[in-house]
Amino acid sequence: MKLLHSVSVILLLFTTRYLEAEANVSKKSVNFLTPEALLSADHYHTTCPDAEAIINQKVTAWVQKDPTLAPSIIRLHFHDCAVRGCDASILLNSANSERAANESRTLRGFQVIDDIKAEVERRCPKTVSCADILTAAARDATILAGGPFWEVPFGRKDGRISIAREASLVPQGHENITTLLDFFTELGLDILDLVSLSGAHTIGRSTCKSFMNRVYNFNGTAKPDPSLNMYYLEILKRRCKREMDLVHLDVISPRTFDNVYYTNLVRKVGLLSTDQLLYSDSRTGPFVQAFATQPFLLSSQFAASMVKLGNVHVLSRPHEGEIRTNCNYVNPV
Ligand code: HEM
Ligand SMILES: *[C@@H]1O[C@H](CO)[C@@H](O)[C@H](O)[C@H]1NC(C)=O
Ligand SMILES: *[C@@H]1O[C@H](CO)[C@@H](O)[C@H](O)[C@H]1NC(C)=O
Ligand SMILES: *[C@@H]1O[C@H](CO)[C@@H](O)[C@H](O)[C@H]1NC(C)=O
Ligand SMILES: *[C@@H]1O[C@H](CO)[C@@H](O)[C@H](O)[C@H]1NC(C)=O
Repeated sequence: MKLLHSVSVILLLFTTRYLEAEANVSKKSVNFLTPEALLSADHYHTTCPDAEAIINQKVTAWVQKDPTLAPSIIRLHFHDCAVRGCDASILLNSANSERAANESRTLRGFQVIDDIKAEVERRCPKTVSCADILTAAARDATILAGGPFWEVPFGRKDGRISIAREASLVPQGHENITTLLDFFTELGLDILDLVSLSGAHTIGRSTCKSFMNRVYNFNGTAKPDPSLNMYYLEILKRRCKREMDLVHLDVISPRTFDNVYYTNLVRKVGLLSTDQLLYSDSRTGPFVQAFATQPFLLSSQFAASMVKLGNVHVLSRPHEGEIRTNCNYVNPV
């Protein structure tokens, strides 16, 4: 009886508190929810209904003119989300921003985002964030390369901070798998996300600088990386005359979004050391094996992992971030 009484007192207390909270729920629920839960696919439906269509038209036109922009836009989105979350910090164009860092100098596609932003500002001023534009552009670029569709939740806002030295936080291609996993875990991404998102390397190019140590002096041995196929090694020697020469990340089908990136790893023709290690490491190898042997697995998993990537540390609460009017600069105060 006594026990029953205490239970009902606790219940009563709980109910009262719940009702108090409920009275103010519209304001307070914002604080209970995770930042990404505040994003939604219909975020611009009333304020800028054509935003997604404008982004798609622009990305399509640019990629038709220059197909190499598709992978560059996808990479730009990754580099944005990997530092300070998906807040368009990579787009800020000032002397000491991420974009100005050495590590960012092969990033491309900024002009595509600027062009989209200019048109979106004409149609709906001060409404659509640069972070949302870049996220949707990466999705559209994926489709244009033959990859999957996914629905992009919107409502990210743009950050006001970008620091050059933080650009070196993004993996450069010489890390071990433990370091990559730690980095992804920090972003709220898991092993499967690491392996599926690395599948973006099924398109696009790398400068020779990013893998040259594998060709001539692996691990300080003055010999090539033993996990590099010997015919592929000869191709790379021929292709790389200078550090900044470009080589396809997927030697077999460089412009098509497919699972060949994974079958390449099984055949020891992965380009970056970090690509090839995904196959040899026991934590990631089984996922590589799965993507290599089941061609249809990648589409759905890549889509799911890209949504997670796009949600990393988003600024979505009412007083966080801003809607930049020009993606290159923070708004004047
Ligand atoms: C897992 C850790 C990753 C590492 C170590 C890595 C490393 C690299 C490196 C070194 C390059 C070549 C850069 C250069 O030398 O020009 C590159 C290119 C690229 N990366 Fe990654 N990357 C990673 C993850 C990702 C993710 C998650 C995505 C997107 C979902 C991505 C998309 C791309 C694309 C599309 C390119 C080609 C860019 C172009 O052609 O302009 N990467 N990556
Ligand atoms: C509701 O929240 C606001 C601020 O979030 C606060 O000032 C106000 O006192 C709250 N009202 C009630 C009834 O709790
Ligand atoms: C950036 O690269 C340039 C040219 O390769 C080099 O001179 C400079 O020292 C590098 N800066 C940093 C911070 O690594
Ligand atoms: C991975 O790399 C990090 C950083 O370079 C290093 O501290 C660590 O010992 C390496 N781990 C393994 C297992 O090689
Ligand atoms: C690289 O070198 C280190 C130390 O010299 C060694 O422990 C490690 O096994 C080497 N890694 C490979 C893949 O050869």
